[in-house]
Amino acid sequence: KILILDFGSQVTQLIARRIREQSVYCEIHPFNMSLEKIKSFDPQGIVLSGGPCSVYDADAPLSDQRIFELGVPVLGICYGMQLMTQQLGGRVERSDKREYGRSQLQIDDNGDLFSGFSGHEEVWMSHGDRIEEMPKGFGVIAHTDHSPVAAMKDGQRRFFGVQFHPEVVHTPRGDEMLGNFIFTVCGCKPTWTMAGFIETEIASIKEKVGTGKVICALSGGVDSSVVAVLIHKAIGDQLHCIFVNNGLLRKGEAEKVVNLFTKHFKINLDYVDASARFLEKLAGVSDPEKKRKIIGNEFIYLFEEKAAKLGQVDYLAQGTLYPDVIESVSTKGPSAVIKSHHNVGGLPERMNLKLLEPVRELFKDEVRLLGKELGMPDEVVHRQPFPGPGLAIRCIGELTAEKLEILREADAIVLEEIRKAGLYREIWQSFAVLLPVRTVGVMGDARTYDFTVALRAVNSLDGMTADWVKLPYELLGTISSRIINEVKGVNRVVYDISQKPPATIEWE
Ligand code: XMP
Repeated sequence: KILILDFGSQVTQLIARRIREQSVYCEIHPFNMSLEKIKSFDPQGIVLSGGPCSVYDADAPLSDQRIFELGVPVLGICYGMQLMTQQLGGRVERSDKREYGRSQLQIDDNGDLFSGFSGHEEVWMSHGDRIEEMPKGFGVIAHTDHSPVAAMKDGQRRFFGVQFHPEVVHTPRGDEMLGNFIFTVCGCKPTWTMAGFIETEIASIKEKVGTGKVICALSGGVDSSVVAVLIHKAIGDQLHCIFVNNGLLRKGEAEKVVNLFTKHFKINLDYVDASARFLEKLAGVSDPEKKRKIIGNEFIYLFEEKAAKLGQVDYLAQGTLYPDVIESVSTKGPSAVIKSHHNVGGLPERMNLKLLEPVRELFKDEVRLLGKELGMPDEVVHRQPFPGPGLAIRCIGELTAEKLEILREADAIVLEEIRKAGLYREIWQSFAVLLPVRTVGVMGDARTYDFTVALRAVNSLDGMTADWVKLPYELLGTISSRIINEVKGVNRVVYDISQKPPATIEWE
């Protein structure tokens, strides 16, 4: 396994993904991880990530110098290379000029790191400072027009430094370079597979839970669904799932979830249809944050009520993912609450439950692979994200049963057409929003005065930033005419062409 020390680069997670994609396990830890912890992790290789700092900054992040005495291969990327240079006695030249973007790497030595390469290779650069003098024992293995030392190595100690970013897609053969490091240099074997993960995880769930009882809140989303199926495989009927239909789900969704879990997977499932109750609580409320609070509280109330009927429960299963777990250097610091996301955060303490988080070491794409391996249908495994408060935050302003029905029908058409066009998997999220605006239209000979539906389709990596999708005009046309023709109460369709930031993905 490989250890990645994070110096705060925005793309550190990509290093981990590129390595895991090659079936080698790795973990990301903060740059200042203690030597004892590093030793007990026992890595076969260490990667030092990039970062926003200069080694000359007063508060430049440093890792324990003794990592260079462990006899373990080290690969420094960008800042990681500069730090390595400085810590090992070379010289980094401070520069205010940045080399940024695509660059042609000229390979001078195609041993180990660049084995299988020759001549030029396109790479992605993003750095200011550069290596002026390599530490003793190092030699140049590649250069660019601007960086005489774009990559270096100390073959004896198996230390490597690259000024560019092999982990980003703009370095097309970066994964092969990382592959050379982990396989050829570090001697890792490609043994991290989903089948292997399932086997070890099932054993560990069994051992942890013993004869205890586990509850899981199913949302229909990928993470909780995969977690439920995995845990069920380990402990069978000791798992109880609770699925609350808040009346804010998409068309046919509740039925699909119930069918899949009870009929197909034969999992204990408590289905609570609380549509009427949620709608009652939400009546007259138009403030988005109030809507979220009401929905969150109501969910917790119902969940606790159902759970209480199960008697003694020991664990709450959650679909926590690796990005939530990494003590990331880059995401440190206070960030303003833009929207309070609905979650079950307060539940474990209130109900005095221990947490069972079997996928906390996985990235989203790995959870999808896991689901596939567990025999779950594509429809679930590749589902686009759907917010906890559901249609409530896509039906702008006050909710009524009638408006929700209009939105549900319009949304079903959007998804059906996006799927038909083969775009569903490529798009991060695509959906309809119902605006509380009525406008004038004409149908046949009659004047109409009906609602407007906005279409939203965005691409994103993690939901933090997003861009609107350039959907083909034809497709937009089809969706628009179908909605206007088939959904009573709508006479106008518009397309949302705003980016996040400054807009957000959802309208509320
Ligand atoms: P925004 O609208 O903040 O959305 O750009 C970013 C991502 O988060 C989802 N989202 C939510 N998810 N509860 C959730 O579970 C919420 O209250 C909530 N609000 C937004 C949104 O769908 C997008 O994927």
